Amino acid sequence: PVRRREVVHLMNKNLPRRVVDTLRELGKVGDGLELPVFAIGGFARDLLLGGKNDDIDITVEGDGILFAETFAATHECRVKSHAKFGTAVIVLPDGFKIDVASTRLEFYETPGALPTVERSSLKMDLYRRDFTINTLAIQLNPANFGLLIDYFGAYRDLRDKVIRVLHNLSFVEDPTRVFRAVRFEQRLGFQIARHTDNLIRNAVKMGFLDKLGGRRLLNELVIILREREPVRAILRMESLGLLGFIHPDLTLETENLRVLDEVKKVVTWFELLYQRDQVETWVVYFLALTSLLADAAFFEMCTRLSVSEHYREKLIDMRVHGEQMLAVMERKVAGKKPVLRSNIYFWLRGLSPEVLLYIMAKTCRDEVRKFVSLYVTQLREVTCMLTGDDLKAIGLPPGPRYREILDAVLSARLNGEVSTREEESRFVKQMLNFV
Ligand code: CTP
Repeated sequence: PVRRREVVHLMNKNLPRRVVDTLRELGKVGDGLELPVFAIGGFARDLLLGGKNDDIDITVEGDGILFAETFAATHECRVKSHAKFGTAVIVLPDGFKIDVASTRLEFYETPGALPTVERSSLKMDLYRRDFTINTLAIQLNPANFGLLIDYFGAYRDLRDKVIRVLHNLSFVEDPTRVFRAVRFEQRLGFQIARHTDNLIRNAVKMGFLDKLGGRRLLNELVIILREREPVRAILRMESLGLLGFIHPDLTLETENLRVLDEVKKVVTWFELLYQRDQVETWVVYFLALTSLLADAAFFEMCTRLSVSEHYREKLIDMRVHGEQMLAVMERKVAGKKPVLRSNIYFWLRGLSPEVLLYIMAKTCRDEVRKFVSLYVTQLREVTCMLTGDDLKAIGLPPGPRYREILDAVLSARLNGEVSTREEESRFVKQMLNFV
């Protein structure tokens, strides 16, 4: 139903020029080796949906490694090959990466063992994929550049906005697909097809997900929490009975749902002000999602998800510290005690942006939210001008008092009592009774 011309038009419209040029070059190298070359999977899917996807996955019907090495040799690229899997990564001079695979059929000897690889056709290769919408291939060889290959009704499902598996054993083969289904459904605004939905519920009921290793489960959860709209995906996971696999006590209640909705707002606020990479948003959602778990259950969950010991301690620290500071601030506000800017600074100093956002989401008090936002937008950048060297110059012997004195100067600055270097100096001298 989609003509070659239309696919090429979509490429020209939605992809940067150099990406389209690279795709054409890949096709030419394929012709030189007499190998059919295709761009497949998420790349083809997102192109047809009118978006773009920076991950270019190439499949070669034949020797993908030879193809990648030939391309690299003629285009000043580096290449990393994995002979065992018939895959390679081409790294363009500007760092852009292209994954290359050979069409293959995999035989698993035992679950988890490395597959023995044998070559097969493109169709067989695509049949092994998770959902129909990921089975499109776009040919890149010059004579057929832009030809859409659709063996399994992918185009129809893209048009109907449906997530559908290719066969009944899909979730048994790979239980992570259950989470992928939820992720694609929410990300694309699609619907999991009825039969596929039943297969998921069946996989849950039959315990197939129990076999899923903690690492893989964590990985899927993190990817979901990194999406634009994780809350909808979390609701969907709950409706499919998936949260219990993260921890049996993990449920959605009015309270953690409220916090999750608030996380969305504060994350949006933060990202408007700062770069996206300044905060790990998934951590904020994770803390909110699990906020009702008891400490022991939280610990168990981390173990279940194979969170490294180091990271587990970090998460526990975030949780504990966040709750502590939240309680301190809420108590202050409830007691109607005056709060200085320096108080806010020292309460929140040392908390990561993730915890700060978590506190903002969790609190029901506007005042507390304002404290944190004041800290994030203004106070955390404040420093005093004097340094340890200045204290030494005044004749103060170095020691732990340096820190106390500099913090006092910083407090004075935060509260507007000093603003110049001279005023800071005077402040210190007065403090030490030097004048
Ligand atoms: N795939 C699969 N089963 C999995 C993981 C991946 O069948 N458990 C297939 C999918 O068909 C997918 C391809 O491998 O198209 C590449 O996987 P990935 O890069 O994770 O997915 P994308 O579709 O590219 O999605 P995203 O846009 O999130 O990168």
